[in-house]
Amino acid sequence: MTKKNYFQISTAIDYPSGPAHAGHMYEKIVTDIIARWKRLQGFKVHFSTGLDCHGSKIARYAKDARKTPEEFIKYMEPFFRELCEKYNISYDDFIKTTEKRHKKVVIKMIEDIYKKGDIYKDKYSGYYCSDCETYFPKEELVDGVNCPTHNKPTEFLEEDSYFFKMSKYQDKLLEHIKKNPDYLRPEKARNEILNRLKEPLRDLSLTREKISWGIPFPIDKKLTTAIWQDALINYLSTVDYPNKKYKDFWPALHIIGKDIVYHHIIIWCTWLLASGIELPNVFVHGFVRSASGEKMSKSLGNVIDPLEIIKKYPADAIRYFLIREIPFGQDGDFSEEALKERLNNELANDLGNLVSRSLTMVEKYFDGKIPKGKNELKFDIEKIKKLMENYELTNALSEIWKFVQEINKYINEKKPWENEKNRETVLYGVLDSLRIVSILLYSFISETCEKISEQVGFEIKGLEDCKINLLKPGKIKKGEILFKKVE
Ligand code: MSP
Repeated sequence: MTKKNYFQISTAIDYPSGPAHAGHMYEKIVTDIIARWKRLQGFKVHFSTGLDCHGSKIARYAKDARKTPEEFIKYMEPFFRELCEKYNISYDDFIKTTEKRHKKVVIKMIEDIYKKGDIYKDKYSGYYCSDCETYFPKEELVDGVNCPTHNKPTEFLEEDSYFFKMSKYQDKLLEHIKKNPDYLRPEKARNEILNRLKEPLRDLSLTREKISWGIPFPIDKKLTTAIWQDALINYLSTVDYPNKKYKDFWPALHIIGKDIVYHHIIIWCTWLLASGIELPNVFVHGFVRSASGEKMSKSLGNVIDPLEIIKKYPADAIRYFLIREIPFGQDGDFSEEALKERLNNELANDLGNLVSRSLTMVEKYFDGKIPKGKNELKFDIEKIKKLMENYELTNALSEIWKFVQEINKYINEKKPWENEKNRETVLYGVLDSLRIVSILLYSFISETCEKISEQVGFEIKGLEDCKINLLKPGKIKKGEILFKKVE
């Protein structure tokens, strides 16, 4: 296999300070969809997700829970694993920053950049927000004290620190952004970063003196490696940098939320430029808001708990709903009403019913054997491939859904239940079309598509099978209906 056939993709690694929330769920689902699509295209995929375990925030939460940080993470980890399991997230690696394999890579990268002369010692003073684990300059504080993201008081810290010469790489980064339109998408995120890069970058403090829960800074072990530096490196430790897996898979596509673009583009990519490592691509998704369009927050009582909502609806209904409802790359609202509507009208009616009634007719008229026939329907797969290539998940899914609706229209017009003459052709065509649609929908709602493939009798292998008339003769196995309607 040539390098062209390898594809690395990652979600951000989550802070396990509380159980997994709807934002974590959304990010893992969209990343999973791209990973599955790439596998269908024939790529060998490495899909990573995981936990960002160090830093003062986790230490504080652990203390509040009367646990050591290690115990606290052990307690929180199952929530995130369960989230992945319940939502069919097909990750290849679940990485935690407390793992040895990760620490090794962090130490190597810092030592390499130090040897190169891009790390120096100085004094640091600034306003620190432990919720974002980030220092802010005074000008950015709200009312002169509060963190601009959390609106909570920051802490003024002064300490000895090692700095990374981030400013040295500003021009190189800018050049890369301008030359590579696919590097940072969508356009809005790219423009925001280009705006920020109009101001000169400052060098980056790499260490914390007063925070001990983290990786000792290899150049001066009294100090702790700053959490973002530690966390970002997970994208390389997951592929065993600098060894074979890294050589095969890197560069990755990072899927992240809009609040951490700065960290991924400015901090991470200047660091990679200093390390002489090829830059990844980054796609920024929007935020899931509450039904009324507000930010979800415990105090407003509008939080969707992904491990609760999954008790009421199938994973595929939630996955389908999120992609249809939230234009990929923009913010969108999680309304249970809208979820129910899509589940009832689209999944249960358009798809579930179609599968059920066509299989019933095959049982009734052909003794459960797929009839011989020719598929008369046409599908423009290239359009969908193009949309997926540009990560236009919402548009791709709505195009695929048009196929589902066309199959319904076809069966309704041809009326094979009345029309004996065309019955073979029509029912073969419908089943063969359902095969194609199942391959196309597989990345989005894999569990459902597997059920269709078992009931009709075909395998979902790759996108190259999205051609008409490939459905082989055989016996169908009608099973349970795909989606139950909810009131
Ligand atoms: N630990 C850092 C990331 C380090 S990556 C090297 C972090 N963790 S987080 O738990 O706060 O967020 C994890 C991901 O979830 C981020 O990409 C973030 O943007 C995303 N989301 C958090 N809330 C979200 C929504 N409400 N909606 C969609 N995604 C959101 O940041």
